[in-house]
Amino acid sequence: MRPHLWGIFRERQHSPGREFDDTEILRLVAKHIEAAGYQVSLKGPDELGEAGDPGAVLMADPLPSLVFLMCERLEALRVLGPLEMGGIPHVNPLEAVLNTYRDRMITLLTASGTPIPESQVILCNPSERDQLSVERWADLFPIWVKRADVHNTQTGDVELIRSSEELQDRLVALNARGIARAVLQRHVPGDLIKFYGVGGPDCENRQERWFRWFYHRDQELNRYPFPEEALHAVTQRAAIALSLEVYGGDAIVTPRGEIFLIDINAWPSFALFREEAASQIATWLLHRVRRGALQ
Ligand SMILES: Nc1ncnc2c1ncn2[C@@H]1O[C@H](COP(=O)(O)OP(=O)(O)O)[C@@H](O)[C@H]1O
Ligand SMILES: [Mg+2]
Repeated sequence: MRPHLWGIFRERQHSPGREFDDTEILRLVAKHIEAAGYQVSLKGPDELGEAGDPGAVLMADPLPSLVFLMCERLEALRVLGPLEMGGIPHVNPLEAVLNTYRDRMITLLTASGTPIPESQVILCNPSERDQLSVERWADLFPIWVKRADVHNTQTGDVELIRSSEELQDRLVALNARGIARAVLQRHVPGDLIKFYGVGGPDCENRQERWFRWFYHRDQELNRYPFPEEALHAVTQRAAIALSLEVYGGDAIVTPRGEIFLIDINAWPSFALFREEAASQIATWLLHRVRRGALQ
């Protein structure tokens, strides 16, 4: 029987405005894999089984040789857990997806020496919060306030804040939505760059890793010069710190040519580079299947 892979779509709530692009990249990767002679089943995260029934996913027949996934909610990751524990490779690894949750991301990026804007995780509930540590940010306005768990899913999750009143209101609003923690982050003025990458820590050198970057469209662009190689190095360091193999994110280049990594996500939509990315991702997945078979 031909080896069989599963591809898991992203949860719709996590693709605001990008439902089509998110679906397309997964489908296109699946086509490439099928063209290489493998079978692929594409599934929604809700088709995986119940989170309350750990192990149910192991009853699937046949079991996949590899799972590639765009889903990111805890429910789906928990359902897939037993498969990965059973030795079936996941791209991205489930832990890597969890590592992109904002508070973990910031801790791991800081520990790895990746240049990120100064950031602090705080409690949204005013009665639990150390007010002094929040007031210190008043000197830095405007600052960014971002929910500390998942990435932006709706208005208010990631906002530029200009005053103490706005900050208090934002934290109260997040708290009212059941979001316990937020990240306060220094605003870094400069050119906004989007990047994409594919490859794992075993890519011996940077040339083996697929990497693309471009300037975000909606901005007043200054084209501050910077060494492209440094951007590649920063994004690679971040991806390795989070164990990501298929990723994308945001970076800022300052007027002095410094690079700050703002955000890194697991398996983005790759919209501007869909065809090229799909082929690269499929090649990487097939490499991972073959490597798995040898272990
Ligand atoms: N520290 C920052 N300095 C400058 N711009 C930022 C900063 N943080 C966020 N932004 C802007 O806000 C956008 C969204 O923030 P990001 O952290 O990428 O969250 P998400 O992708 O979850 O919406 C970024 O692409 C960037 O344009
Ligand atoms: Mg982002």
